[in-house]
Amino acid sequence: MKVGILSGGGDAPGINAVIRAVVRKGLQNYGYEMIGIKDGWRGLLENDFLSLDLKSASGILPRGGSILGTSRTNPFKHEKGSEKILKNAKKAGIEAVVVIGGDDTLGVAQKMGELGLKCVSVPKTIDNDLSGTDYTFGFMTAVAIATEALDRLHTTAETHHRVMILEVMGRYTGWIALMAGLAGGADVILIPEKPFDTNEICSFIKRRQARGRNFSIIVVAEGTKPKGGAEIVYSETVDEFGHIRFGGVGYYLGKEIEKRMDIETRVVVLGHLQRGGSPTAFDRILATQYGIAAIDLVHKGKFGYMVAFKGNRIVSVPLKDVVGKRKTVNLELYDIASVFFG
Ligand code: F6P
Repeated sequence: MKVGILSGGGDAPGINAVIRAVVRKGLQNYGYEMIGIKDGWRGLLENDFLSLDLKSASGILPRGGSILGTSRTNPFKHEKGSEKILKNAKKAGIEAVVVIGGDDTLGVAQKMGELGLKCVSVPKTIDNDLSGTDYTFGFMTAVAIATEALDRLHTTAETHHRVMILEVMGRYTGWIALMAGLAGGADVILIPEKPFDTNEICSFIKRRQARGRNFSIIVVAEGTKPKGGAEIVYSETVDEFGHIRFGGVGYYLGKEIEKRMDIETRVVVLGHLQRGGSPTAFDRILATQYGIAAIDLVHKGKFGYMVAFKGNRIVSVPLKDVVGKRKTVNLELYDIASVFFG
């Protein structure tokens, strides 16, 4: 049997670890022929494939990015896109596809599955906003990078008696901000799930000053909006899935704080540093488990499912129960973090 594998959407540390596991077990244990589909769904639309052997899947465990590339191609936005995909998969002899992606890419897998393409899915995104799984791979690496950034900002903020704002990714959820803020001891954590009030933030800064702490660290998720306001966007241009580009809430907030208080404020936008480079040990292990579980699902003929991590176990969940259902942050965890605000 010929099995295709693709990665779509924003990259996340650990994609190559998934590919390695899928290819290794597929070739070695099941005797499948493995074929890489380049740049997500684009590769199937345009017949852009590469053959994957043991050599191409070796040495890639710690490597960031994806050896297959990625794209935000949405076949349903292309004329006869889904028909082309079915036709091209058939022509290439691809009988099953392992789809590595976040909500957009997996949403396509769900629809293509209904049209007859046999897919199993692997949850990937640094945002950790996919339902059905406790963790997507790539998320913990992003949290580790954001935590290190907070640690570094702490020393310079303290030395200069400044407010330091770290803007992190996460789209419509605050998972990275919350977890990194907890780990990095942020004095305020702002997330999309809880629109902010700048005066309240200033009162936290003042409370710290009253305790002799004349610096503060704020972490803000890119999709956070002020109470009664809208998200701050970098560009209104939308991708094929209808997403705008967030960016700028950190600078917005920095200016608002300086307007209200006599304290120097600096802003750092962490950006794609959160996605680039090597996965942490946790993500390498999780991605490897996901890859093995995904090819096992193919072998069992269990299509239309996504591998998932629930309560320390790898399980599989029906993809239809997952797509389109954003997983927002655990507010109990936010309550714990807020004990340390101000
Ligand atoms: O979904 C992952 C993510 O990194 C988001 O956190 C972020 O908003 C977006 O992708 C950035 O996308 P791009 O790489 O296209 O700028």
